[in-house]
Amino acid sequence: MRSEEELPGSPAPGSWFLVPITPFGLEVRPLAGGDRRLPGSADLKAWLAAHRVVLLRGFPPPDDAGFLAFGQTLGEILEWQFGAVNELRVQDAPKNYLYTDHAVPFHWDGAFVGRIPHAILFHCVAAPPPGGGGETLFCDTLRLLEHTAPRRRAAWEGVSITYTTDKLAHYGGSFTSPLVVPHPVTGTPTLRFAEPVADLNPVFLEITGIPAGEQPAFLAEMAALLRHPTWSYAHSWETNDLLIADNWTLLHGRNAFHRPGGRHLRRINLLG
Ligand SMILES: [Fe+2]
Repeated sequence: MRSEEELPGSPAPGSWFLVPITPFGLEVRPLAGGDRRLPGSADLKAWLAAHRVVLLRGFPPPDDAGFLAFGQTLGEILEWQFGAVNELRVQDAPKNYLYTDHAVPFHWDGAFVGRIPHAILFHCVAAPPPGGGGETLFCDTLRLLEHTAPRRRAAWEGVSITYTTDKLAHYGGSFTSPLVVPHPVTGTPTLRFAEPVADLNPVFLEITGIPAGEQPAFLAEMAALLRHPTWSYAHSWETNDLLIADNWTLLHGRNAFHRPGGRHLRRINLLG
């Protein structure tokens, strides 16, 4: 579909190409010969609320200052020990799996520091070559829960999980979260679940509400559900993509990639 008039949160018709992403998300492109400035924050926030993922493709890439300034138009920027921008690329001697070419299990950002960003802003500085892997995975937990049978959902509402990891990078320690958590603004139930990490800087789960003997089956079930194509989107990066993702309703992860092709993303967390 190449018409913006039918989409919620649309700006003045004709400003951009708005193309829905399957199974969710919205791709925004400048029109040929049209305005190549990035859309304003009001449009972006409306699209994010409606589509969970907003991909800005074909716009001029921001420089370092421009990337931060763009983020600031969308919300308060969360400062980490490394600063505002997380440079996600392979390091020579990583202490944490994020800085390898390995897969990243599903999680949500900010859980270990107790300040959960509303959104995540990515800039793809260098994309893997086609077929090189490194897709970022997004699971729409609202849609997942809508498709979950009431009996299973009721069982999930009694589950709570304690996550523990050593602080070798910018996060660590221990926190406990129910599996089903109301959205901070709308109150709609969302799924908050981080998969165990068996890699550099592992993350351990202690699950309550599920008998010990049933926990392996629960983890396998979650691994399959989070990747179900009806509510999960694998984003294949192109260099200079900008992407905004809703961290309150989505969970995200990453496919492994082939190091010779490289992959470099910059990420900012936006609190409000
Ligand atoms: Fe993340």
